[in-house]
Amino acid sequence: MKKINTFRTWLLLSFSLSIIPLYANAELISEGEKTYDANCAACHQKKGIGQVGLAPSIGNRDFLAIASDDFIKSVIAQGRAGTAMVARPDLSGQKVDAIIAFLRSLPISNPKVIKVDNSLKFTGDIKKGADHYLKFCSSCHGTEGQGYSYGGPGPGIGLPSFLNQASDDFIFQTLKHGRSGTAMLSFIGATGLANLSEQDAKDIIVFLRNIDKTTTTKTSAPTGASQYSLCVSCHGQNAEGNIALKAPALQHLSEDYIVKSLKKFKLGARGYDPKDINGATMKSMAGMIADDKTMVMVAKHIKSLAVKTPAATIKGDATSGAALYAMCVACHGANGEGNPLLKAPALAGQADWYIVAQLKNYKAGLRGVHAGDPEGALMRPMSMILANDQAINDVAAHIQNLSKNKRSK
Ligand code: HEC
Ligand code: HEC
Ligand code: HEC
Ligand code: HEC
Repeated sequence: MKKINTFRTWLLLSFSLSIIPLYANAELISEGEKTYDANCAACHQKKGIGQVGLAPSIGNRDFLAIASDDFIKSVIAQGRAGTAMVARPDLSGQKVDAIIAFLRSLPISNPKVIKVDNSLKFTGDIKKGADHYLKFCSSCHGTEGQGYSYGGPGPGIGLPSFLNQASDDFIFQTLKHGRSGTAMLSFIGATGLANLSEQDAKDIIVFLRNIDKTTTTKTSAPTGASQYSLCVSCHGQNAEGNIALKAPALQHLSEDYIVKSLKKFKLGARGYDPKDINGATMKSMAGMIADDKTMVMVAKHIKSLAVKTPAATIKGDATSGAALYAMCVACHGANGEGNPLLKAPALAGQADWYIVAQLKNYKAGLRGVHAGDPEGALMRPMSMILANDQAINDVAAHIQNLSKNKRSK
């Protein structure tokens, strides 16, 4: 009898001990899913399935087998400079742990265990590696490994931001195993796509590590369209904007205003406050545009895109908004067409949620207080006239009507 009791106690105890971490884990995973959906899903899609040309599938079996938690943490903390993967140092360690727990909890078929030795450093023949790279990799990853900005489906494996995060063996194991369910197949051995030998793969890795020093590959000069491919993932194919990523429409803006805004972001006259996450995101993107000439090129390209009127998302009283808008006419024009002499941008054609967000930013001093932004200094006092959120919503509702009128003209 005593024996059974002890057994029961033991059973109960071991059961409850094993279930506690399970509960704690379930909580972490569900927090991770929420954080992931809010911050990552717009690009990496629900459950990390990825989208070609937009963001890789980070819920992928082979990716998760090769990527350590530390690797994923470094991508989140540092981002991938030169791509739409923006650094998110603002996400707490707890949030990042939760995201990783969520990704690792996703159901996968035939889970794999792949050992990655991050201390390995391969040697090889750069010239041979370059030849193989051009033949087997460049069509998807770009002639210089520039990634999506090249227009192919593969990420930027020649960019320093990737190469600094990925060890030689991380790349090697990716070539060996591929990424199931994506265009990235296995390349090594008889079952591999190109039947490369292990040494061929090492040559390619050595080539990638020296890609900025080699002259075997040369891209053609950038064009407005090739530059805009860096913007597409957030601002959309026709620069119509993306509410999920808080990226505004651009097509209605003048070339001058686009260029001036890009300069302000690059110099930190916009997006300067860490509380302004969207401004900070755009600031890091503007930092990637090489020079003023390139900014003009990309602006001209944006002006060549088809016009789309963003859908209404804000509830406001357009009639009282029209009365308030009387104060804006002098600068932004009766039809929201903007005024180049006063450097005031067009508002008709912009999404209402962005109008609201910017008016709030001005009021809060997240925009328009930097010395490098004299136009914002003109605009900020005007935002102060709008007494409360209701007034802001009302004026946005009126501007939304101006956008619709513009479309029907
Ligand atoms: C605006 C789009 C966008 C958002 C939002 C975004 N990412 Fe990314 N992410 C990318 C792109 C693009 C890449 C590939 C960049 C490259 O190397 O070319 C990437 C790469 C990654 C990688 C590396 C994958 C690999 O194959 O090595 C990880 C991990 C990652 N992102 C995690 C996240 C997490 C976690 C979040 C949310 C906190 C997030 N990303 C939000 C666009 C995005
Ligand atoms: C048919 C197109 C295609 C070809 C050819 C191709 N790749 Fe990929 N590669 C991809 C895609 C797509 C991904 C990202 C998978 C995803 O979306 O999750 C990728 C991912 C990778 C990654 C992981 C990058 C990261 O951010 O973690 C490496 C490394 C890589 N490829 C190397 C190569 C090399 C080297 C070659 C040539 C031997 C090559 N690839 C050929 C499409 C391709
Ligand atoms: C990772 C997403 C992302 C990418 C990629 C991106 N942007 Fe942005 N962009 C934003 C966000 C978010 C804002 C809004 C910033 C704010 O709220 O102040 C913005 C704002 C802007 C503005 C200001 C618009 C206005 O009405 O004042 C311009 C101009 C702009 N982006 C141009 C570009 C160009 C050109 C590129 C490509 C070289 C680009 N962006 C790439 C996210 C992005
Ligand atoms: C004295 C002239 C002036 C008046 C009046 C004025 N604005 Fe502006 N506004 C500007 C200027 C100049 C900018 C551009 C700031 C910059 O270059 O970043 C601007 C920017 C904006 C923006 C940001 C647009 C974008 O694409 O990022 C919004 C929204 C805006 N104004 C709304 C209004 C509203 C609503 C009113 C009336 C309540 C108003 N403005 C009155 C001059 C004015």
